[in-house]
Amino acid sequence: MKVLAVSGSLRAGSHNTELLRAAAAAAPAGVDVELWEGIGALPPYDPDLDGDAPPASVRQLRADWGAADAILFATPEYNGSVPGGLKNAVDWGSRPRLEAPLTNKTVAVVGASPGRFGALWAQADLRKILGVAGARVVGDELPVTRAHERFDADGRLLDEELHGRLRLLLETLAAEAVPALAA
Ligand SMILES: Cc1cc2nc3c(=O)[nH]c(=O)nc-3n(C[C@H](O)[C@H](O)[C@H](O)COP(=O)(O)O)c2cc1C
Repeated sequence: MKVLAVSGSLRAGSHNTELLRAAAAAAPAGVDVELWEGIGALPPYDPDLDGDAPPASVRQLRADWGAADAILFATPEYNGSVPGGLKNAVDWGSRPRLEAPLTNKTVAVVGASPGRFGALWAQADLRKILGVAGARVVGDELPVTRAHERFDADGRLLDEELHGRLRLLLETLAAEAVPALAA
């Protein structure tokens, strides 16, 4: 079972990307978590670009997201919501509607911030956006507060309870996932 892990942060030292690496380390047997890093290459969504020959970065997103059995998103919170780059990726992934990679895709959402709320508003918004885009959102929010204290200098997770919650969420994702059709 392949779970694609999509971080909404582009920065090198991102806590959300660290969280997805921690999820990969916490994955149960048979669940392979693979980081997807194409968000920064996508143009802003433009219906005029989305014709017979969409840009290569968009074709890559659709092939990769479409081939995944499930997708785990980690979102930062920017000004109370989802970073624009992540919303843009979801927009590209939601078209063309009937064959879109997000249509019926089983997805889950986590989020991290250095503050006291763990990107909770962003997670709530992302769950709504993914649902409207046609995905099946499973599991609960997983707000990781004070994210800067939860990883060591090498990015390894220091929090045993969080390790367990990530594993549980991946078990839920795997149990609910509809296997992707072979490309
Ligand atoms: C433009 C911008 C807006 C932000 N707005 C919020 C916010 O509304 N709430 C919050 O908790 N943190 C906010 N932050 C702080 C982020 O939570 C923090 O930078 C976090 O580390 C980003 O996630 P990352 O580590 O995965 O890059 C904001 C940061 C930026 C750059």
